Order: sequence, then structure tokens, then C-alpha cells
Amino acid sequence: MKKMLLPVVLLPALMSVLLSADARAGSSERAYGAELLQPFKQQLMGALKTGLQQGPEQAIDACKMAAPKIASERSVDGVEMGRASHRLRNPANAAPGWVRPVLDGYLASGSEIRAVQISAGEGRQGYVEPIFMQAAPCLMCHGETLAPAVAEKIRALYPDDQATGFVEGDLRGVFWVSWPTGQ
Ligand code: HEC
Repeated sequence: MKKMLLPVVLLPALMSVLLSADARAGSSERAYGAELLQPFKQQLMGALKTGLQQGPEQAIDACKMAAPKIASERSVDGVEMGRASHRLRNPANAAPGWVRPVLDGYLASGSEIRAVQISAGEGRQGYVEPIFMQAAPCLMCHGETLAPAVAEKIRALYPDDQATGFVEGDLRGVFWVSWPTGQ
């Protein structure tokens, strides 16, 4: 019964995650990066939402399979994108070199954390956007207390997991995208 109720309860929360990320995208010079990321973010949320309709454990499988697949499908025509974090669940999501200083800056910053457009190395532009912890549904899999079955599944799939213990409002990581200059 509880499982059946999940999607209904979570839908508004998922929508607010999408909308607030959208509003954070900022000024027009950063618009191209934000635009490139938008379908990636939407597809990720869609995969998470669909997985959660079956329950949190199934959603872990959905995240594990969908996230890298969506990122690589969206990385075409010289565009690359992904998610990164200072506390990784999947080590394959480590921040590229040009993203690391931005992430460090976010962590050091006492002030407002904003999306930025910066050089992503020779001939490439980059855009980085913060990801914040929302109460639902993020805490279920990244919070301080996880349901035993969820914790067990995460431990089995990600033995080096560092991505629990977050509270609402914490910086969870970043979305990043880079593209050839002049595109
Ligand atoms: C059902 C469990 C589940 C929920 C709910 C969930 N995540 Fe995750 N999250 C995962 C898994 C599993 C991964 C690893 C995916 C992979 O293998 O690339 C992950 C990875 C991430 C990453 C990539 C960096 C890393 O540590 O590998 C970020 C950022 C992230 N999650 C943020 C969020 C946010 C923000 C929310 C809420 C909107 C959320 N997650 C909700 C399970 C979940």
C-alpha cells in the first residue's frame, strides 16, 4: 500500500526540483549550457520517477543504469556532460579537471552558490550548475538514515559509497557540460 502512494506524494517534489534548477540557470550568457543540460536533467528525473513507482530499491537500479546511459547519449557533436560530486557514490562520476575548481569554490563559498560559465580547456567552453539536496526524494538514498534494504543495496552496488549523510539544502554535487568554442 505504501509503495502505491509513493509516486503521488513524490510528484510535486520532483517537479519543484526541476523548476528550481531551471530558475537557477541565470543570465543569458549562461543560457546555452543550461539549455544543453535541460533534457539530461529531465530524462534523469524521469528515470528516477519511473523507478520510484516500483519502490526505492528498483529506483537504485534505474539510476545505476539510466544515469550513465543518458549522459553518454547526450554527449554528441563534441558536447560532453555529466554529474559530479565531492562525495561520490559512483567513482566514475569524478569531476573532470576543469570542473574541480568550481566545485571547490562552491564548497568554500559562504555566499550564494551560482551556476557559472568558464573555459573547459583549450577550445572548449564549460558550464557548471550546483545540485542541492531536496528533502524528497533525495534523502531516501542520500540522507542520514536509509531504510535497511536501501542501505544494503547501495552498499552492494557501490562499496566505496560516500554519498549518504546529506541533509536538505546541502550541496550534493554539480551538473556540468562542455562544448567546442564557437558552437
Ligand atoms: C532511489 C535512490 C536514489 C534517489 C532517490 C536519488 N539518488 Fe542520487 N544516486 C543514486 C545512485 C544509485 C547514484 C549512482 C548513479 C551512477 O551509478 O551513476 C546516484 C548518484 C547521484 C549523483 C552523481 C554523483 C555521485 O555521487 O555518483 C548526484 C549528484 C545525485 N545522485 C543527486 C541526487 C539528488 C539531488 C537526488 C534528489 C533529487 C537524488 N540523487 C535522488 C540513487 C538515488
